[in-house]
Amino acid sequence: MDKFIITGGQRLTGEVSVSGAKNAVVAILPATILAEDVCRIENIPNISDVTAMVKILKNMGAGIKYINPSTLEIDTRFVRSHVVEHDLTKQLRASYYLIGALIGRFHKAQVAMPGGCYLGLRPIDQHIKGFEALGAEVTMEENAMVNVQAEHLLGNSVYLDVVSVGATINVMLAAVKARGLTVIENAAKEPHIVDLANFLNTMGADVRGAGTDVIKIRGVEKLHGCEYSIIPDQIEAGTYMVAAAATRGNVLVKNVIPKHLESITAKLIEAGATVIEDDEAVRVIMDKRPGHCNIKTMPHPGFPTDMQPQFSTLLCLAEGTSFVSESVWDNRFRYTEQLTRMGATIHVNGKTAVIEGVEALKGAPIRADDLRAGAAMLIAAMAANGVSELEEIQHIERGYENVVDKFRSLGAIIERRSFPDDEEKVQMTAG
Ligand code: EPZ
Repeated sequence: MDKFIITGGQRLTGEVSVSGAKNAVVAILPATILAEDVCRIENIPNISDVTAMVKILKNMGAGIKYINPSTLEIDTRFVRSHVVEHDLTKQLRASYYLIGALIGRFHKAQVAMPGGCYLGLRPIDQHIKGFEALGAEVTMEENAMVNVQAEHLLGNSVYLDVVSVGATINVMLAAVKARGLTVIENAAKEPHIVDLANFLNTMGADVRGAGTDVIKIRGVEKLHGCEYSIIPDQIEAGTYMVAAAATRGNVLVKNVIPKHLESITAKLIEAGATVIEDDEAVRVIMDKRPGHCNIKTMPHPGFPTDMQPQFSTLLCLAEGTSFVSESVWDNRFRYTEQLTRMGATIHVNGKTAVIEGVEALKGAPIRADDLRAGAAMLIAAMAANGVSELEEIQHIERGYENVVDKFRSLGAIIERRSFPDDEEKVQMTAG
């Protein structure tokens, strides 16, 4: 088992560069299936979700070549399979985008239900509703296979009952080569939705309105290969911004789109940080104890749920009481138990957390319950007094490129160490 060992108490200072967006790349890689051609994609983050998606595409017959560590060439001309088994899909949530891409290309898909972070129930009823509206028949098999078949895909109106990133993306993928016009209403507006639409349009699709809540997709017969560069990761950027504030540091976060960070910037300023925006960078300076503030997570452009654990960690150190309300996921406060071990005072009641700020956190053995919870634990450990041992770090490596090196370059004391598995430990003791 690998762990991060973190000695807290260092102010983070210096510069860090943000990688390509995880939640964009995991949609854009499956979208290449629709091109039936060669795509060259730049600014690919080196994270395990990408490794898993690349493995799935290779397994389906795609030719994949790394031109350099952040540029991939993907040839989907010879993809033949429309079946993806559970041993591959279980590694990441975004594997369900293969359904939209495969039905867009082959009019059929058989994809096992996806894995990903546990955040409460993660239904896919809105994805199914969208596929059905386009004329597909969807059946769920006992072995958790989602089976989708369509004689023809015909454009239609799809009103999403909940604002869903995944359903918006999946319906876009299924609709780009459908006959006629598809209109997605109550669509999600996240930056990665816009990035996917731009990628599809670069391949010759006709997608308009991405970034608003009505997306119009006029089906085209054929797409073609293209060159494309993934946008910077909004949440990785936000994580470094909050880490700077929590350690009372001064950090320049580079390669960002400041507009995507507005809700995070606004809350950091409310908590007492100075945030200076440049064209493609933001500087975060915090020279005092943070002040309390309230946050409520919302679909974009609201405060992102994927920043809620990290920001709540900052609020654990604030002067006064903060209220955090999670309106996207049913169960996204599990990590607070770990913060409590570090001396935080948090009361969770359903989808609200009341945080009474303390002066300092103390190092402890802690666990990354999921990707963003793991990022929050890193921030807590870097801001705390003493040493923390952080377990289950594979969750963090799903979405943060070179996280140890990046934080080290800012002055954090953090190392990745391998420990024998518990089972091995028991055997060693018994022996
Ligand atoms: C995406 O998940 C992200 N994942 C999540 O990021 C992020 O938390 C989430 O969007 C919200 O921003 C990826 O992009 C791979 P949703 P997704 O469909 O698409 C309900 C991270 O840490 N819903 O927008 O699965 C659902 O239960 C990850 O990077 C339905 O009811 O989220 C939730 O309450 C974690 N029916 C809400 O909608 C559906 O068919 C939003 O979910 C679909 C969703």
